Amino acid sequence: MKVTVVGAGAVGASCAEYIAIKDFASEVVLLDIKEGYAEGKAMDLMQTASLNGFDTKISGSTNDYAKTANSDIAVITSGIPRKPGMTREELIGINAGIVKTVSSNLIAHSPNVILIVVSNPMDTMTYLVHKTTDLPKHRIIGMGGALDSARFKYRLAEAMEAPISDIDGMVIGGHSDTGMVPLTSHATRNSIRVSEFLSEDRLEQVAADTKVGGATLTKLLGTSAWYAPGAAVSALVQAIACDQKKMFPCSTFLEGEYGLNDICIGVPVILGRNGIEQIVDIPLSDTEKNKMQESAAGVTKTNSLLSL
Ligand code: 2OP
Repeated sequence: MKVTVVGAGAVGASCAEYIAIKDFASEVVLLDIKEGYAEGKAMDLMQTASLNGFDTKISGSTNDYAKTANSDIAVITSGIPRKPGMTREELIGINAGIVKTVSSNLIAHSPNVILIVVSNPMDTMTYLVHKTTDLPKHRIIGMGGALDSARFKYRLAEAMEAPISDIDGMVIGGHSDTGMVPLTSHATRNSIRVSEFLSEDRLEQVAADTKVGGATLTKLLGTSAWYAPGAAVSALVQAIACDQKKMFPCSTFLEGEYGLNDICIGVPVILGRNGIEQIVDIPLSDTEKNKMQESAAGVTKTNSLLSL
């Protein structure tokens, strides 16, 4: 199993590290345009192998896509991260060109690759890959909901003073500060609806804190977060690589599902060896349906900024 991670910045390097530690891939290639940067990060990570107990071979490349040839899965984290006060959508001007070039280069060397898009604005970058490459839609996956759901579970556990391992919850919709749809009506603490433990007001606060989870960290860190994004995308890679048939909310191209067309947005999907193997239609309340439509309108507006 060969995995390429493009972008050796904090998110990409964290993703590579988590993949290596989970030890399900034979090879991880870390690629960056900055001279020697990916090679350095790869060497540093390889020097943890005896300490962290993995055999995965991590190598680095300065913009040589020949070294990514025949990758089974490729993760695109390249582009600029947001600064405090910025929205993800403000990154489109620079990141669209980068994602278009990177996806084309990856596919040229790995025609059977499954692409996972992380670069922001993620739903629009995922849509861009659909519109500018010939990859089938089940092999183009946007990572946002897995991260947002992890933040949702964190906030739910915090509110209930419960262990996160007891919490289940999902966030669908756009990966944006205003477009996320935390499914508070579906969330559970050990199979019991969280509404049995939290007031409506407290649940609304949990949802609100979840939606700005990325911005909260960007304000604290001065740049975008990386540990949880890296961990979230490594979980998607593992689900595909190990054919786990796991369900995650991922950004995927919709053709009528959830009443939406010609858009990439976060919905529950089953991930396996073929990438997105099924889009799962779950019952939504009228409020949740309306929020999804509003979220989709926001993503479509950002998509319109693309020069396709
Ligand atoms: C985040 O929410 C980087 O979009 C990513 O942290």
